[in-house]
Amino acid sequence: MTALITLNNISKTFLTEEIETRALNNINLVINKGEYISLSGQSGCGKSTLLSLLGLLDSPSAGHYHLGEADVSSLTRNQRAKIRSEQIGFVFQSFNLISDLTVFENVMLPLTYQSGLSKAEIVEKVESVLAKVDMAHRKSHYPSQLSGGQQQRVAVARALVNDPAIILADEPTGNLDSKNAEAVLQLFDQLHQEGATICMVTHDAASAKRASRCLEMFDGQLIKDNINHDRQTILKPVVLAAG
Ligand SMILES: Nc1ncnc2c1ncn2[C@@H]1O[C@H](COP(=O)(O)OP(=O)(O)OP(=O)(O)O)[C@@H](O)[C@H]1O
Ligand SMILES: [Mg+2]
Repeated sequence: MTALITLNNISKTFLTEEIETRALNNINLVINKGEYISLSGQSGCGKSTLLSLLGLLDSPSAGHYHLGEADVSSLTRNQRAKIRSEQIGFVFQSFNLISDLTVFENVMLPLTYQSGLSKAEIVEKVESVLAKVDMAHRKSHYPSQLSGGQQQRVAVARALVNDPAIILADEPTGNLDSKNAEAVLQLFDQLHQEGATICMVTHDAASAKRASRCLEMFDGQLIKDNINHDRQTILKPVVLAAG
C-alpha cells in the first residue's frame, strides 16, 4: 500500500474573542491510495475541520501533514491553492455550483487554472466526466434547472475533472432525498472500484459502512479506525513477466 496522506500529531485551535476551541487534538492518520474512508462522529467533533486541513483550505496549528512526499503543513495561502487545484477534488453538502454558469462551464472551471490544455482537450475531459456521472445530456442547463441529485452529480464531475489524488466530500448526501443520495453513493462505490481515493464525512451509519475504512471522531480526536472487509476493492493479481 502506498501512503497518499500522512498526518503526524495534527492539532487545530481556533481563537475567537478570547475563546479557544481545540477542534483537532493530536490526530495521527495515514490514508493509502485507493482507500474509501468514511468519517463520522457527533456534531462539532471536528470532521469538517479535518476535511478542510486535508483539502488545504486551512493549515494546522501544530503537527505535520505530508501529501505524497511533500510536507504541506505550513505553506502560504497561494501555495496551498495551487496544490489544491491540482490534487484535491471537493464535494460539499450544498453542491456549491455557480448559478450563472452552465453545467459544462461549472465542470470546466477547475481546468481553467491549468495552463497548457487545448480547447479540444478541455472539451474532451469535461464531456468524459459528465458522461461518468450520467449528466452529459444536461450540459447546457443551469444549476437552477436541475434537481438536487443532478446538481450533486455535476459537483462530483467538477471534483473529478482534474484527476485529483483524493476526493473529499463533506456530507455529500446531506441535502438529498434517499433516492438521490443512493445515486451519489453508487457513484462513489464506482469511483472506489476504479481506484479513486475518497474521504467522505457522513452522519449516516449505513452510508459510512459503504466505505472500505470507517473512522470515527470524538471531541477532536480519532477514536475508531475500522477496516471494512466487505468493501475492499478487488485488486488484480500482478502478473510477473517470464524470465
Ligand atoms: N472558523 C472557526 N472559528 C472558530 N471555531 C471553529 C471554526 N470552525 C470550526 N470551529 C469549531 O471547531 C469545532 C469543530 O467544528 P467542525 O465544523 O469541524 O465540526 P463537525 O464535526 O464538522 O460538526 P458538524 O457535524 O455539525 O458539521 C466546533 O466546536 C466548532 O465550533
Ligand atoms: Mg461539519
